Amino acid sequence: MPTITNTLEIHSLHAKAPGQEILRGVDVSFPRGKIVTLMGPNGSGKSTLAHVLMGQPEFTVTKGQIRWQGKNLLRLKAWERSRLGLFVSFQQPPELPGVNLLEFLATAYKAHHPKANQQKDFDKNLRKALSTLKLPESFLERSVNTGFSGGEKKKAEMLQLLVLQPKLAILDEVDSGLDIDALKLISKTVRSLRSPQRTFIIITHYQRLLQYLKPDIVHVLVNGVIAESGSAALVKKIEKKGYSEYLKVAS
Ligand SMILES: Nc1ncnc2c1ncn2[C@@H]1O[C@H](COP(=O)(O)OP(=O)(O)OP(=O)(O)O)[C@@H](O)[C@H]1O
Ligand SMILES: [Mg+2]
Repeated sequence: MPTITNTLEIHSLHAKAPGQEILRGVDVSFPRGKIVTLMGPNGSGKSTLAHVLMGQPEFTVTKGQIRWQGKNLLRLKAWERSRLGLFVSFQQPPELPGVNLLEFLATAYKAHHPKANQQKDFDKNLRKALSTLKLPESFLERSVNTGFSGGEKKKAEMLQLLVLQPKLAILDEVDSGLDIDALKLISKTVRSLRSPQRTFIIITHYQRLLQYLKPDIVHVLVNGVIAESGSAALVKKIEKKGYSEYLKVAS
């Protein structure tokens, strides 16, 4: 019997998109209560890992295991993973014309918190989230991501994070394209949610966000495998030297 653990454990994960193997044996764990950063060159498989964790059907897992809270995540549908408390802010969040943000958030909240005192808690979280992110209520009437600027898309993702309060949040390049004030606001939002009960996986290319967030653990994904793991000092090394040493080994 496997032990029940709140660490997200990934063993020998292989996954492919049509015609291309992308993840080639990922072994990594994400302990509860930690901020973990995932870095790596463009095209190394970071977003694919986020998609596979959320159960996106365009990727096929050919081998390996993902365990969390005593469950084999690979056997669960995306909504079941949400119900367990998993949340992914995608690098390119989809546009949903005709679905307004308020409806979308309410539906997602129900999926995440089926037993909560739904309407009251949802309203409370939403009011607080709008104020934290300095967003007007009228923002909720807009169709999800449709015509949103780059920064507004990222703020809409943060709104979901604040409303849903997931147990495990994967933020894929939530810092890309943000002005400095928005970057600070988003860093503050993540820091305010930091808790021993919650895990963050932060996918980023930049040191700037990490200066505010101070990750506990850093992993480097290269060519579909974890090439190195370490402390926050690893971010500085990458900023200075880039990924060439890993790419030499991988090629
Ligand atoms: N749906 C798909 N079909 C075919 N190939 C795909 C698909 N999704 C991703 N890939 C390919 O898989 C590789 C890894 O892509 P992925 O988006 O995971 O990289 P990444 O590490 O997130 O890169 P970046 O830092 O640029 O965001 C790339 O070569 C990409 O073209
Ligand atoms: Mg990506």
